[in-house]
Amino acid sequence: MPADIPESIRFLHEIEIGLGAWSWGDRVVWNYGKGYNDADIESGFNVSVENGVCFVDTADIYGNGRSEHLLGQFLKQNQTPVIVATKFFPLPWRWSKASVTRALHNSLERLGLERVDLYQIHWPSPLIPVETYVEGLASAHRLGLARAVGVSNYNKNQMQRAITVLSKYDIPLASNQVEYHLLNRSIEKNGLLARCQELGIRLIAYSPLAMGLLTGKYNSENLPPGTRNGKYSSIIKEIQPLIHLMTSIGQDLGGKSVAQVALNWCICKNTLPIPGAKNFHQAEMNAGSIGWRLTGEQISKLDAASDQFTK
Ligand SMILES: NC(=O)c1ccc[n+]([C@@H]2O[C@H](COP(=O)([O-])OP(=O)(O)OC[C@H]3O[C@@H](n4cnc5c(N)ncnc54)[C@H](OP(=O)(O)O)[C@@H]3O)[C@@H](O)[C@H]2O)c1
Repeated sequence: MPADIPESIRFLHEIEIGLGAWSWGDRVVWNYGKGYNDADIESGFNVSVENGVCFVDTADIYGNGRSEHLLGQFLKQNQTPVIVATKFFPLPWRWSKASVTRALHNSLERLGLERVDLYQIHWPSPLIPVETYVEGLASAHRLGLARAVGVSNYNKNQMQRAITVLSKYDIPLASNQVEYHLLNRSIEKNGLLARCQELGIRLIAYSPLAMGLLTGKYNSENLPPGTRNGKYSSIIKEIQPLIHLMTSIGQDLGGKSVAQVALNWCICKNTLPIPGAKNFHQAEMNAGSIGWRLTGEQISKLDAASDQFTK
């Protein structure tokens, strides 16, 4: 970790992996209620925490608040300290900086907390200037409602604008959460990852399993269900050589799964992956991606085999 990272955001750099909570309550993409229920989700949460995965990423939009609500329940049941991150979605009627703190109060109520560890703007708005919402983040921080603040899906320019606003209040930008995995390495190619690392901003890698594709369980005979099908069916065949390589690397490492190799690769790139998990088995497997490292040679092979998927 670079020495000059402000003390107030160092905790994020000490976290190796997190748990993503998008599927907790989401029916549109993840089919919540079909194949997994609240008890499955809770056992996934508990096994994560038991295995040292104590960072959970949710958002007010996930399941229309259901994800935050479930997390709040789990936090009450399980006394282990958990680092909680949530997000503000730029809904069309949220046009002022005050809408950010208002939304955070509602999130805190669902979570049953007085403060979150990380509050993030989920997406830049096409209508509202970056500065408006980031002023709202600064207010949330100054009111003590958020220990640290971050953004998500911001490009280099938008991220710089956020930094400029926060620096007026001496608040560091803690994180930028973006899509990153072996099938989408845009942030390596467009310089965002390098910029974050230069500035000590934690790069949080979302969909680090490419929404399940990088577990190796989906193929031409077993396509991912629902909306994921449209997104990934065209490349499912082409990624099989990469999946074979990941399988063989996992075997060389004494029996790591394809998912664990995918997540460890993100960690080796100095990012913080937040895989989603619907149940005990998935969460337990994902928690097993920490405590070991791919070798430099294995990383180079994975880089070479995955390069073609990011234009
Ligand atoms: N900021 C943003 O705009 C944004 C966008 C997307 C995601 N995120 C965050 O990133 C988190 C993770 O991303 P994601 O949920 O899109 O995708 P992901 O982590 O790449 O994939 C999660 C899905 O893969 C399958 N899976 C997970 N672990 C598995 C295992 N060990 N074995 C087999 N299957 C497994 C499960 O779905 P199936 O069992 O149905 O295959 C699970 O729901 C989200 O929960 C959210 O917190 C943020």
